[in-house]
Amino acid sequence: SFLDIPKEPCRVLVTGATGQIGYALVPMIARGIMLGPDQPVILHMLDIEPAAEALNGVKMELIDAAFPLLKGVVATTDVVEACKDVNIAVMVGGFPRKEGMERKDVMSKNVSIYKAQASALEKHAAPNCKVLVVANPANTNALILKEFAPSIPAKNITCLTRLDHNRAMGQISERLKVHVSDVKNVIIWGNHSSTQYPDVNHATVTTSKGEKPVREAVADDNWLNTEFITTVQQRGAAIIKARKLSSALSAASSACDHIRDWVLGTPKGTWVSMGVYSDGSYGIPEGLIYSFPVTCEKGEWSIVKGLKVDEFSRAKMDATAEELAEEKTLAYSCLN
Ligand code: NAD
Ligand code: LMR
Repeated sequence: SFLDIPKEPCRVLVTGATGQIGYALVPMIARGIMLGPDQPVILHMLDIEPAAEALNGVKMELIDAAFPLLKGVVATTDVVEACKDVNIAVMVGGFPRKEGMERKDVMSKNVSIYKAQASALEKHAAPNCKVLVVANPANTNALILKEFAPSIPAKNITCLTRLDHNRAMGQISERLKVHVSDVKNVIIWGNHSSTQYPDVNHATVTTSKGEKPVREAVADDNWLNTEFITTVQQRGAAIIKARKLSSALSAASSACDHIRDWVLGTPKGTWVSMGVYSDGSYGIPEGLIYSFPVTCEKGEWSIVKGLKVDEFSRAKMDATAEELAEEKTLAYSCLN
């Protein structure tokens, strides 16, 4: 109605904005896919000096696309200017993994970037800025960002495992020949790495006969306990092998899903996976950014509590926690 007050624009930072994911992500944000069709946005794009000209080219294209929701573009190689007053920060900047590398291998290149950018965000972002780290090793970069931005509440710093979550739903939907939106409540536990544990023990699928546990619908525990898990764990590597480049459109789309659900809430009865600071739930040590099942309401996530964990799951959840503890040690040794 005429009484509707237009929303204030939301400032969204994308680092590494000229990269593959950045280039896929910024138009999605400008179209309202991340924050909704009634939320104006001002895009802040950061990249490094060698990419300055390309960054300006992306800004030109954003202007040329005439997005109705896009109220401004800040394109800069200055991290302070980039972080100024941002409400959402999507941290994609860094070096991607190449064929044959583990995500750990990109550690030393990336953790020092996250230490430096932590300080800029802490000093210059809007209060209550929500941070999503996409760049690998995503959990450990997010942890370093948290440790070097002590005044940002830990609950505001997350990493992307929604891509893995979506991949798990995709595999189930392909197997059962159902639409992916009929699959829900898979879980990604742990690290965004090949030790992650994609868990379907609480997942359901909606069929013409109502809602069913995925285990019952698939009726092949052997596939679920072996091939399904490794396919999801290795999907990033499979994309690199096929494209000679790491996943980009799916990563950008999943980053939008992550922020949208965090800000606007998860649908009733549905959870999603997010890498968040562990509070000790499910016996996962505090002091790690670990992927848990979460629900979101009023801009806050909370870990889904009380799910039954069997022995098989326990071992896999602990193994990926152990890898994260090792990565944390390695990250600190890279910083020293
Ligand atoms: P890319 O190389 O195409 O783009 C990275 C961009 O970051 C480049 O434009 C580069 O100039 C920029 N950059 C480098 N250092 C920077 C800094 N200090 N500040 C700002 N920008 C900087 O890589 P990509 O394919 O877009 O991937 C980006 C990252 O995301 C990689 O680390 C990749 O491994 C990771 N990734 C994560 C997931 C996930 O699910 N968590 C999925 C896919 C990719
Ligand atoms: C992915 O999962 O696609 C990304 O993390 C890229 C990678 O290195 O696997």
